[in-house]
Amino acid sequence: MAPIIRVEHLRKVYRVGHEKVIALNDVNLAIEPGEVCCIVGPSGSGKSTLLNQLAGLEKPTKGHVFIGKHDISEMTENELAKFRQEHLGFIFQSYNLLPNLTAAENVALPLMFKGVGRKERIKLATQELKKMGLGKRAGHKPTEMSGGQQQRVGIARAFVAKPKVIFADEPTGNLDSQTTKQVLYRMLNMAKENGITFVMVTHERDLAAVADRVVTIKDGKVESDVVMDAEAKAAAMAEMFSEIMEQEAPAEPNTTVPLNSEKQ
Ligand SMILES: Nc1ncnc2c1ncn2[C@@H]1O[C@H](COP(=O)(O)OP(=O)(O)OP(=O)(O)O)[C@@H](O)[C@H]1O
Ligand SMILES: [Mg+2]
Repeated sequence: MAPIIRVEHLRKVYRVGHEKVIALNDVNLAIEPGEVCCIVGPSGSGKSTLLNQLAGLEKPTKGHVFIGKHDISEMTENELAKFRQEHLGFIFQSYNLLPNLTAAENVALPLMFKGVGRKERIKLATQELKKMGLGKRAGHKPTEMSGGQQQRVGIARAFVAKPKVIFADEPTGNLDSQTTKQVLYRMLNMAKENGITFVMVTHERDLAAVADRVVTIKDGKVESDVVMDAEAKAAAMAEMFSEIMEQEAPAEPNTTVPLNSEKQ
């Protein structure tokens, strides 16, 4: 299958006064449709910079980023804005929620850009919030929620319109370890159920164990790019999510056979 994201000779240089910071240096990468890809590496290695170039939030200094057939590095700002609205979702570490809107209204925004009517938008947004364990917070404004709750609202907003690709920069950075597991489990399920390609930056290596592909960045370069072994991944998922899977498993079917059933 043709990759959904293709990066060719990507370079990003920031200028700070007279200094040059080479944040990305000749990065080449391909991510397949439907893959969950984790980008890992030390602080300052260029992970967020790479994600921002992949998502079209910043222009590369050199090189190309293709999403599907589209070279997003060649698009104008207007073309990019439209493309992002139609095809991409983002989960920001700083949430980027609109303060005057409720959680449900924030989550519903991507649907508004798609022309979905208000009633339907709020219904779908509330369903998405429920999946994130926030059914009771749909009417709350961001200031009336904790950091972790706001982060989950941001996640619901990224998934609600089922974009082709979702980019996430440390999406569980502000959550405790138990909530991190639950939110990660939900995100993986939602991505897999909807065939969404999911690209996530994370500091925590153990989270990357459940990814299909792990790209390690060091000093602005790809140090390694590994497609995970299916068995190892299944084992990591079972270990990380066993408690949640047990809680969510459907109740045992009623296997009790009526005592007189054989005689009937
Ligand atoms: N807007 C900017 N202007 C100047 N330099 C920048 C800018 N953004 C990032 N950098 C520099 O580029 C390098 C890569 O930064 P980046 O934010 O991509 O790292 P990171 O891997 O995401 O780190 P962290 O894990 O701490 O979030 C760093 O040296 C950083 O100082
Ligand atoms: Mg970062």
